[in-house]
Amino acid sequence: METTRWKLTNDAKIDAEAIHSAAELLLNGETVAFPTETVYGLGADATNEAAVAKIFQAKGRPQDNPLIAHVDSSAQLWRIVDYAPEYVEKLIEALSPGPVTYVLPSNGTCASNVTANLSTIAVRIPDHPAAQQLLQTCNIPIAAPSANISGRPSPTAAAHVWEDLQGKIAGLLDGGPTGVGVESTVIDCTQDIPIILRPGGVTREQLESLTGKAIIDPALAGEAAAPKSPGMKYRHYSPDVPLWLVEGNTEKLQQIISAEQHKGKRVGLLASTDTAAQLQADAKLSLGRDASEIAANLYESLRHFKSGEVDVIICEAIPQTGIGEAVMNRLKKAASMHLTE
Ligand code: TXA
Ligand code: MG
Repeated sequence: METTRWKLTNDAKIDAEAIHSAAELLLNGETVAFPTETVYGLGADATNEAAVAKIFQAKGRPQDNPLIAHVDSSAQLWRIVDYAPEYVEKLIEALSPGPVTYVLPSNGTCASNVTANLSTIAVRIPDHPAAQQLLQTCNIPIAAPSANISGRPSPTAAAHVWEDLQGKIAGLLDGGPTGVGVESTVIDCTQDIPIILRPGGVTREQLESLTGKAIIDPALAGEAAAPKSPGMKYRHYSPDVPLWLVEGNTEKLQQIISAEQHKGKRVGLLASTDTAAQLQADAKLSLGRDASEIAANLYESLRHFKSGEVDVIICEAIPQTGIGEAVMNRLKKAASMHLTE
């Protein structure tokens, strides 16, 4: 399949044409990747089962992992869900459009493969001009997981989508790098209090200040076997080279790097800007100066080191507060080893 790639400019007329062509493909049951404020999504008409099946096919995604339906507004959101607890309106008012996804009882408007036959549906209103224009032009809910091959780091640039899915999807809207860098926070809104199924762009602290209380799915904290968000059980975000996530100071990091080098391994270091400057390794990449910069650079960094260049990636752990909670959740999933203090 030939993949059409449109480069979005700041010229409203050119962009409107590209978005119109992309919307046409989606309305014809094809798949199109598009930018959101978190990561690129791979979209298809959420009401068309055959179109949605193409997403699973292109990504190599397990059939039991449901997708997020993207809508342009809360009016559209209410068209695909059955009902919601009162706090949901408050959350939507404060946080949407934005990097947050609400899991709510479905009213059956979306195809059954969007929800993997669950009675609930995940819905999100993205905060990105191209995503908004695309959704408004289509005027239907668009199912969209991250636009990567399953198991690979999520795409935060059009080049990442191209690398993974060129030839497997009908179109790609290139809107440049995304902003937040980690995916949306997935919240189970079927209970009396919101339950965070996947930490993301909206922080636990933000949710708590809005609703008084938000809890983290015990499965995320490693206390239960079956995660409520089916996607959380799969291996994810894997770089090409084994990654070791290390908690500890610069001295400990350097010891580990040197020990691996003594065994003849070439070591790539991923660390915050300050730490990276203090350490010696075969190759170094700064993740950024603070948690938001690290989130924005995270997936690009996980794609940076290729096998053949280094044998192991040593990655510095960061504090699990604010958006650091989402960053550490992804790093733990990307890591083949997690060295704690
Ligand atoms: O920021 C994002 O959320 C990006 C952009 C493209 O919007 N999308 C994204 O989609 O990350 P995906 O498919 O990579 O992750 C969706 C997550 C998965 O962990 C999935 O299991 C969970 O949401 N999910 C979807 N529907 C669900 C449901 N009904 N109940 C519980 N979890 C659900
Ligand atoms: Mg994903």
